[in-house]
Amino acid sequence: MEALKDVRILDMTHVQAGPTCSQLLAWMGADVIKFEPPQGDATRGQLRDVPNADSLYFTMLNSNKRSITVNMKNPEGKKIFEELIKKCDIIMENFGPGVLDRFGFTWEKIHEVNPRIVMGSIKGFGSTGPYSDFKAYENVAQAMGGAMSTTGTPEGPPFVTGAQIGDSGTGLHLAIGLLAALHQRDRTGQGQYVEVAMMDSVMNLCRVKWRDHQRLSHGGLSEYSRPTEGLKATPRAGNDSGGGQLGNAIKCKPGGVDDYIYVVVQEAVWDALAKRIGPDVGQPSLVEDPRFAKIADRRKNQTDMWKYIEKFASNYTKREFMAILNPLDVPCGPIMSTADLANDEHVRGREMYVELDHPQRGKWFNVGMPIKLSASPAVIKRSPTLGEHTNEVLRDVLGFSESEIAAKKEAGAFSMPPKKK
Ligand SMILES: CC(C)(COP(=O)(O)OP(=O)(O)OC[C@H]1O[C@@H](n2cnc3c(N)ncnc32)[C@H](O)[C@@H]1OP(=O)(O)O)[C@@H](O)C(=O)NCCC(=O)NCCS
Repeated sequence: MEALKDVRILDMTHVQAGPTCSQLLAWMGADVIKFEPPQGDATRGQLRDVPNADSLYFTMLNSNKRSITVNMKNPEGKKIFEELIKKCDIIMENFGPGVLDRFGFTWEKIHEVNPRIVMGSIKGFGSTGPYSDFKAYENVAQAMGGAMSTTGTPEGPPFVTGAQIGDSGTGLHLAIGLLAALHQRDRTGQGQYVEVAMMDSVMNLCRVKWRDHQRLSHGGLSEYSRPTEGLKATPRAGNDSGGGQLGNAIKCKPGGVDDYIYVVVQEAVWDALAKRIGPDVGQPSLVEDPRFAKIADRRKNQTDMWKYIEKFASNYTKREFMAILNPLDVPCGPIMSTADLANDEHVRGREMYVELDHPQRGKWFNVGMPIKLSASPAVIKRSPTLGEHTNEVLRDVLGFSESEIAAKKEAGAFSMPPKKK
């Protein structure tokens, strides 16, 4: 039995932030009806790798959903939307500011049509405040939420992170909010409006950088490998650990772009580590070296410590070095490229890279479900083609007859009017 088996979601989301949330809910068993404009979610055609096939951008974020195309700028299309919200538990959207209001469907109106429905909205900056009218994409949120100013090296430009914290990170926040609101709805019978702003989500994910921001008013950040005294804002930390323990990315053999391993020199493992690497780097008494005796000493002299560790690592590949560190209980992780991960036994075994079929594009892979529910494991299915389930949803969910469907079609509910010449 799937966890969200009885939950039906009208999913108007597009691009990444919203679809990543509704895909997760679909993997938990919700009936997610992707409600698309007649031309479809723009990502179906973006970054296409196979001609005339839905792009991976779309397929990887919209699996396990049904697709219905409805023109919200047509009166009959609006009626279908209104009928659908009467039959759904959740409606979700991540349009630019004001789009749903312009369709004539404010939250107040939606709540009036179905008082039980929970509504989820993602906006770049929320519905209040001086930034509320602005649109946003991933990197805009990373720029404005504090991620970029704290990522990279202090001497270089700010960097975005590869993890899509602005979009997928916001989607996770929305999923949590929707499930909480659904729980309350089951108790009270009343739905509510759940709003998540991308900027707020990025700030939440950068929480430890705010810890450091406030610590700066009491002195420097001793764990950073570069001086921080006198700074007014949390600096870019390079590959410094960002936690109570020291850490760094260590270069390994043969020196390629991803031939690194991240090593955390936890207090508890220093002696064992120093005994193992000392003799090989010409420092047989490294374990007694006063420069590295206690964590505070190692913080102060970490540049030298990393040099010894890197000298040792130059004789090993990242995997070989991992095999040396694991028995010593040293927390570490080789820097895994996407190619490493795609072929990784652990990843395959945990169903985190799963092969699927698609009528337009053939075999492809999706990243699997990271939340493992013991009684309701996710079954990952392909994404729908555009409007694949329009008739099915109109029949099954709204109880329309074939002639009603034909009449709505004739009235332009599912298509865009031809462009004026
Ligand atoms: C992502 C974003 C920048 C894209 O901007 P955009 O491509 O201009 O799209 P918008 O959401 O502003 O507008 C969607 C348009 O499609 C139209 N549309 C959407 N669904 C429709 C439907 N079923 N029928 C007819 N028209 C539809 C809307 O009416 C709107 O057109 P309008 O401006 O003429 O009213 C913007 O949606 C946004 O800021 N979203 C919130 C933040 C977010 O989620 N960003 C991350 C995306 S990964």
